[in-house]
Amino acid sequence: MRNLGLTPQPPAEVGLRPASHAEEVVAIEIKSAKEIEAMRVAGRMAAETLVLVGEKLRAGMTTEEINTIVHEDTIKRGARPAPLNYRGFPKSVCTSINDVVCHGIPDGTALKDGDIINVDITTFYNGFYGDTSATFYIGTPSTEARLVVEVARRALELGIAEVREGARLGDIGAAIQEYVEAQGCSVVRDFVGHGIGRRFHEDPQVKHYGKRGSGERLKAGMIFTIEPMVNIGRFEVEIDPVDKWTVTTVDGTLSAQFEHTCLVTKTGVEILTKRPKPLRLSENVATILA
Ligand code: MF3
Ligand code: CO
Ligand code: CO
Repeated sequence: MRNLGLTPQPPAEVGLRPASHAEEVVAIEIKSAKEIEAMRVAGRMAAETLVLVGEKLRAGMTTEEINTIVHEDTIKRGARPAPLNYRGFPKSVCTSINDVVCHGIPDGTALKDGDIINVDITTFYNGFYGDTSATFYIGTPSTEARLVVEVARRALELGIAEVREGARLGDIGAAIQEYVEAQGCSVVRDFVGHGIGRRFHEDPQVKHYGKRGSGERLKAGMIFTIEPMVNIGRFEVEIDPVDKWTVTTVDGTLSAQFEHTCLVTKTGVEILTKRPKPLRLSENVATILA
């Protein structure tokens, strides 16, 4: 979601929050056992659709064809693809190629050898959302493509590793930023992870940069996404002035992203969008990079 910063200007669906102190006041829902079970179901569906996409991807396929695969698989499950008509988004999935950071709109563009593509799936089922994405390799990746994709993959893992009751939201962003910058890449600031549940985007904002020990204290039952966007070059991004959605790097360099929906538990984390099997063209890296 768009990072609205610390000014009291949340997205309309979050509602206005009274700022009683200089710091932003956030009310993070604690999900009930029933809600958590429903989130497991929605999360698993999104994960399964992402696995299916990996199995179908190939050079020459258009992003419109990916949209059809996601739309039909989601409907077949009795679910709804959440992106479709969300704040005017025209398609059922986001497909973001190379220097597109996020929110790419499926169209007639064909995938070609050497491309990287993030596919971001959000499934709405039985009143709850599951949100997950991954970046895939089409054909043989360049050295830069491998770097940005593998750094983004590891960045998400390191962010997730910080999650447990009692940790701070800022610990997640700090772990991600420290790692990504040590690899010579940068972390996008303008888009953040988000609480998720009965609404697509809820409090809190989950920044992928920041300071350890800062931010809200995590409690068991909180559910939010972590979805670091990593650029090879500068962190600055811009939104297409014509379609108002497509986000690209300002310097034209590659960007990669991975996303999971995460439940905070007493002892750590449960990944609600955990995959039933490895992603083809992404997680079978030994084969791809051989
Ligand atoms: N799935 C994106 C996220 O991770 C949001 C996409 S909004 C859309 O938050 F309208 F572009 F689909
Ligand atoms: Co998300
Ligand atoms: Co998403």
